Amino acid sequence: MLKVGIVGCGLIFPMHAASVNFLPNAQLVGVCDIKKDRADKAAAEYGARAYYDYKDMIRKDILDVVHICVPHYLHPVISRYALEQGVHVLCEKPMALTMEDALTNVRLAEENGLKYAIVFQCRYNDSAKLVKETLEKGTLGKVISARVVLTWSKPDEYYTTSDWKGTWDKEGGGVVINQAIHSLDLANWFIDDEIVEVQAHLANRAHPIVEIEDTAEGFVRYQNGATLGFWVTNNYGDNDAIEVRLHCEKGKVVMNYNHADIFLNDGTVLSADTENHTGSIHRDGMAYWGYQHTHQIADFYDCVENDREPFNSGRDILKIQKLVCDIYTEGKKNFYRHNQ
Ligand SMILES: NC(=O)c1ccc[n+]([C@@H]2O[C@H](COP(=O)([O-])OP(=O)(O)OC[C@H]3O[C@@H](n4cnc5c(N)ncnc54)[C@H](O)[C@@H]3O)[C@@H](O)[C@H]2O)c1
Repeated sequence: MLKVGIVGCGLIFPMHAASVNFLPNAQLVGVCDIKKDRADKAAAEYGARAYYDYKDMIRKDILDVVHICVPHYLHPVISRYALEQGVHVLCEKPMALTMEDALTNVRLAEENGLKYAIVFQCRYNDSAKLVKETLEKGTLGKVISARVVLTWSKPDEYYTTSDWKGTWDKEGGGVVINQAIHSLDLANWFIDDEIVEVQAHLANRAHPIVEIEDTAEGFVRYQNGATLGFWVTNNYGDNDAIEVRLHCEKGKVVMNYNHADIFLNDGTVLSADTENHTGSIHRDGMAYWGYQHTHQIADFYDCVENDREPFNSGRDILKIQKLVCDIYTEGKKNFYRHNQ
């Protein structure tokens, strides 16, 4: 049995805690939050011990694995502490706010022989797996161009009820680093080539109460000639399924989150759907997050037990980390703020 602890008992916490309790090879031994009432409630609900300082819980004699579910700016700090203590780390996205912090932790994990992975649960959807496998087999040929559209909704209360969301220093940005990071990662993972150019515009169009961007648009060029265009916003009235499309040498991909259709030029159609969410637990989860946390967590534990590298390892996730950092570097040069 792997002894597991979770730091951060907020919104995403139940997806992790319920998954740990559901999996046969793990036991939730500790939960930690600086807000005592949250830690106590979580501990009582999931049968774990409550901690209020992560340093008291992240110790090799207490934990094998720690899940990190705290505000973004703390991800590299707590990940690093755990890796120094000899504890395997599964951290919520994003890995860090800077490339420097991300690289430090990737190297630390490798030097210490520890597993370090970042939660990008969308990669575990049957739709995403089908597209990735079909590309890897060569059936679709090379990706020529990709497009990502994300239209979600973040009402003011999303920010007013949080002490870190909506801030550059603690969240690191808005719709790009927090919401669209999943869809941008999927497109980037599918193209799987070196980025040579990133253009981006960022804007805050309809959220005067926060400083970060609620909308982003951009264009990415890869070494092999592939391109990625994106338009992502939190100003839509609904949280629509994320949409990724690929135009490839031998066909097209139309992916609406859990569902993917691959239309090959020879007339064949391949489809995948993840409607029944078999083997996953999604306590308090939102449909637009997807329901694959349990699958990624199970895979991570298998990697720990069998000394296998997770495909969402920190080293692999450096690719989307770099893209996100580059989008902010470019986008901040001409940040547009609507005069509200
Ligand atoms: N993968 C997904 O689809 C998905 C979905 C939602 C959120 N997330 C990620 O999960 C993380 C948490 O988001 P959330 O919405 O649950 O945030 P939240 O604000 O609801 O919860 C964060 C919790 O961390 C606690 N915390 C802050 N500092 C701490 C510290 N030093 N030690 C211990 N606890 C501390 C806070 O008190 C709070 O309870 C973020 O990285 C977010 O991007 C991922």
